[in-house]
Amino acid sequence: MRGLSCLLVIQLLLELPLPEACEHTRGSPRIVGGNDAMNGSWPWQVSIRGGSDHICGGTLIAESWVVSAAHCFSGDKSAYHVNLGEYQLQNPSESLVSFPIKEIYRHPSYTDIGSSGDIALVELETPVSFNSVIRPVCLPASSVEFPTGMACWVTGWGDTQYGGSLTAPKTLQEVQVPLIDRDACNSLFNTGSYTDDPQGIDPIQQDMICAGYPEGEKDSCQGDSGGPLVCEWDSAWLLAGVVSWGVECARPNRPGVYILLPPYADWIQDHIPTISFTVRSSANASPLGALRNIWGASPTHTRLKQAKRRGGPLGLLGALSHCLVCLGLGPALPAMLLLAAAVPMIL
Ligand SMILES: *[C@@H]1O[C@H](CO)[C@@H](O)[C@H](O)[C@H]1NC(C)=O
Repeated sequence: MRGLSCLLVIQLLLELPLPEACEHTRGSPRIVGGNDAMNGSWPWQVSIRGGSDHICGGTLIAESWVVSAAHCFSGDKSAYHVNLGEYQLQNPSESLVSFPIKEIYRHPSYTDIGSSGDIALVELETPVSFNSVIRPVCLPASSVEFPTGMACWVTGWGDTQYGGSLTAPKTLQEVQVPLIDRDACNSLFNTGSYTDDPQGIDPIQQDMICAGYPEGEKDSCQGDSGGPLVCEWDSAWLLAGVVSWGVECARPNRPGVYILLPPYADWIQDHIPTISFTVRSSANASPLGALRNIWGASPTHTRLKQAKRRGGPLGLLGALSHCLVCLGLGPALPAMLLLAAAVPMIL
């Protein structure tokens, strides 16, 4: 048994899966606050055009698929196209490519602004080639729960916080915003009142999350709709939400509201059967936590979950220490990371 496991481990070390296309660390530094982004920093950001006008943001999730908001689309698909590789709207990049739309799938539960289901899948007429400034983001699995307070980023070419539209040359903007869970956000929305507040007591629905600051100041705004709220989690950038609605912009107690991606994993998979999802969990503070996150990142995560249920955590630990011993490796981190990828196959 021991010899067999070791063989398997060695074989797996040689055949480690490559990271998924969406997993990569970005080189450029981030600055806290609303700022010009750097060219290529957010390679999944797209601009949805109605005629020649920028009408909404969107996020590249696969070669020919973009996620945006349902409320961005009211007309026929021929009224729109999708620009990728764009950085400054008034200074077209060499990397800019423009795609007609094959189909727009608005989520059937969407009715109007503030309703749940404000999400749309946009299928490009032809697949796009990925490069340094055009790359997809990772989609969170349905099990992913983004922790309150996680520092995420929202990007777009929408209005700047002082009411006016973005000034020339209209450089992509980025702002860091902490996540606010549904209950806390409903409490904020029940604090004070604004003329254009949504009706009803708790406007933040099950498929929504908020991001921003109780004091306001940093937020998404008109024109950012449909664009990404992304969070870096163990070296993968996950699309946490789609910019959906807000009460004006950057108002105190009125953070921006986003449609969560995890509740729509099945709906997305129905339309894109080949799409992959990334698993992340914060439910582990033990030293094994790092390993669990690596398992989560590997394409074998589903099998690992089943294996865990069968063998139990002790079996898993046993297998892990057994392999560490058989390879003569100490608990050096790189070795443990490699072994973590191998564990599901051994069990
Ligand atoms: C951004 O970078 C891409 C890839 O290097 C380049 O093609 C494009 O022209 C750049 N855009 C601007 C505005 O500098």
